[in-house]
This record gives sequence, structure tokens and C-alpha cells, in this order.
Amino acid sequence: MSNAVPVITVDGPSGTGKGTLCGFLTDWLGWHLLDSGAIYRVLAQAALDSGIPLEDGRSLSVLAARLDLNFKQEPGGIRVMLDGADVTDAIRTETAGAAASRVAALEPVRTALLAMQRDFCRPPGLIADGRDMGTIVFPEARLKLFLTASPEERAKRRYKQLKQKGISVNLHDLSTEIKQRDARDTGREISPLRPAPGAIVIDTTDLDAGEVCNRVVALVQSTYHKIPLKNRQ
Ligand code: C5P
Repeated sequence: MSNAVPVITVDGPSGTGKGTLCGFLTDWLGWHLLDSGAIYRVLAQAALDSGIPLEDGRSLSVLAARLDLNFKQEPGGIRVMLDGADVTDAIRTETAGAAASRVAALEPVRTALLAMQRDFCRPPGLIADGRDMGTIVFPEARLKLFLTASPEERAKRRYKQLKQKGISVNLHDLSTEIKQRDARDTGREISPLRPAPGAIVIDTTDLDAGEVCNRVVALVQSTYHKIPLKNRQ
């Protein structure tokens, strides 16, 4: 990882608008994207496929080191490939999210995935989306963001998102699952979900995606005013 490569970290729980913001920043700046959640989801999926128990840290770390994972840029967005198969939609279910949060709580797993994540840091820059991007993976990033929103609003957003994708869910169950996942992510001993020192916290409960992006554009411009931005207006 090079200190010369600019990194913007975007952390926070699910349903706070991180994905939308990171997609916007990636297009606007022309930088690379690290969707670290997808890596944990793929690992959990690979473990389920190969019958490895989700609490077996040692076997999971071996699996993590061997993971044949690729992100493929396509016109409709980034596709996630595992062993050559497209798993983009399969890993987006709440079941996969819950399994991801179980494997993500294990220290050997997090250690095994650290180098893979840091390897995404390449010129001209990186947008890093996750839970510990600012605290552990890229603590030297100059701009660190932490998005929050009320649990009710986040459940509603996830519900809408999943429905649009044709995935049928029950709002009450979704809300329960989100609360359980939050508790696991914030309560774990290793890399718990929390704002990094110096992170700018943005509560998106009453903001639409455009308002969040506008706020962040101003922050990027004041932080990186000397860096040429590909699509800067
Ligand atoms: O962001 P996403 O919902 O895809 O993440 C799935 C799960 O992966 C999270 O609930 C969290 O437990 C885990 N995760 C993590 N650290 C990251 C990214 C995701 O622990 N940097």
C-alpha cells in the first residue's frame, strides 16, 4: 500500500447509504472501489458451499487465503465472481449478510483478508466501503466518513432495495435481522464497527442520496483540492 495513493474510507452499518455514496464517488473521481462487505459475504458463501462451519476460524482463514474472488467491471455495475461463477445476487440476501457477519467476527478471518483488501489501494485512488476501513484497514486515509441512520429508516431502505431486486422479505423479520447483525458487528472484540478517530459522521436518516453526495463532494473538494479529479465539475 502506498501512502501516495489517496483513500476515502466510508464505514457504517447497512442501510445507511454507503453503497450509493461509494458508487457515486467511484464514478465522479474515477477511483477504484473496495466493497469489503462483498469479500466477507463471498467467504461466508464459499464456506457454506464447502460445508465449513461458520465458527471454524482456522479452516475459514485457509479458505480465505485460497479464495478465487474477482470483481468484474460491467456496464450495469461491478459483478462479484467466485470460482468463475457470478455470485453478485446470491451474496446480497439477508442470510448471506448474517453468515458474513458471523465469519467477520473471527480474528483469523480478518487477518487473512487484510492484505487482499489493502491490495485494492492503487492509483489514482480508492473508495473503501465497509465497517473497519478507517479504523484498521486504511487508518492513514485523509478523509474518513462514517454514515449512520435510525434502525427503522435503515430497515425500510433495505426492504425497498430487496423488493426492487425481486427478493421477497418481511419488514419485521428484516428489522430483527438488522438489529442482530448490528449487535454482532458493534459488539465483537475484533475490529468492532465504530467511527475511526477523526471520522466525519453523517446521519443520513433525513437526507436523500443526492443530499449525502453533495455534502461529501464539498468534503472531498476541501480535503483533496490539489488532486485532479477525473469528472470534477
Ligand atoms: O456491507 P455488507 O452488508 O455487505 O457486509 C456484510 C457483513 O460483513 C457485515 O454485517 C459485517 O459483519 C461484515 N463486514 C465486516 N467488515 C467490513 C465489511 C463487512 O466485518 N469491512
